[in-house]
Amino acid sequence: MRKPLVAANWKMNKAIKETLDFIHSFLQLVEDSGDVDIVIAPPFTSLADAFRLLRATNIKLSAQDVFYEDKGAFTGEISPVMLTDAGCSFVIIGHSERRQYFLETDEIVNRKIDAARRNGLEVILCIGESLMEREDNKTFEVLDRQLRDSLKDTAIDGITIAYEPIWAIGTGKTATPEQANEAHTFIRGWVKRKYEESADKMRILYGGSVTPDNIESLLAEPDIDGALVGGASLKPEDFAKIVKSAKRRI
Ligand code: PGA
Repeated sequence: MRKPLVAANWKMNKAIKETLDFIHSFLQLVEDSGDVDIVIAPPFTSLADAFRLLRATNIKLSAQDVFYEDKGAFTGEISPVMLTDAGCSFVIIGHSERRQYFLETDEIVNRKIDAARRNGLEVILCIGESLMEREDNKTFEVLDRQLRDSLKDTAIDGITIAYEPIWAIGTGKTATPEQANEAHTFIRGWVKRKYEESADKMRILYGGSVTPDNIESLLAEPDIDGALVGGASLKPEDFAKIVKSAKRRI
């Protein structure tokens, strides 16, 4: 049985004080029993402060992005070495907002994954199709290409895949549990062909308008091992409810 993983992706929300307030409240709401992996991804500027509160807990700290070089003349970028120094053990790579607004390609995603793994960071790799691609029946083709190019010459250990259909992100339109599970089953089948038995251990998260109200039906599906949560992770009460649902699944 795969241990559920629930990750909060705060995107460009919360200054340092808001981050610390959230963590204080959240720690009172969630029993830190370690039976669900909980990951919180604040903006870069809050990472080091967040880690001071999280280091005594089982909750893991994640960044939302990383650059693919360890150091050098790359103005504005943050390296994987800096992320581990700030206390991160995870990093989200290839989020659709990075792909859409910052023109990240699968090749860049692949280099970022390599850099993160080389530095011991666990990766949450985001993939997913747009509405147009789904309507054109291209979902599996898109997932196949994203998996092939992002995971080129990459081992699968330390990688969690998040299936996030772009049309479901921040729109309030969740994929139905069946739609999500169908994509997850495809992804697991793909990973199995390339990495054999590792596919059974690898966790696949669903992301896209996850809320305390729909999480249970999503987690009831056999191939959905957790969630990557945006909007509903900004309030400690909502995120705590989502974590509790994941605990009930065990
Ligand atoms: P959402 O975002 O939960 O607000 O839809 C999810 C994500 O983008 O990771």
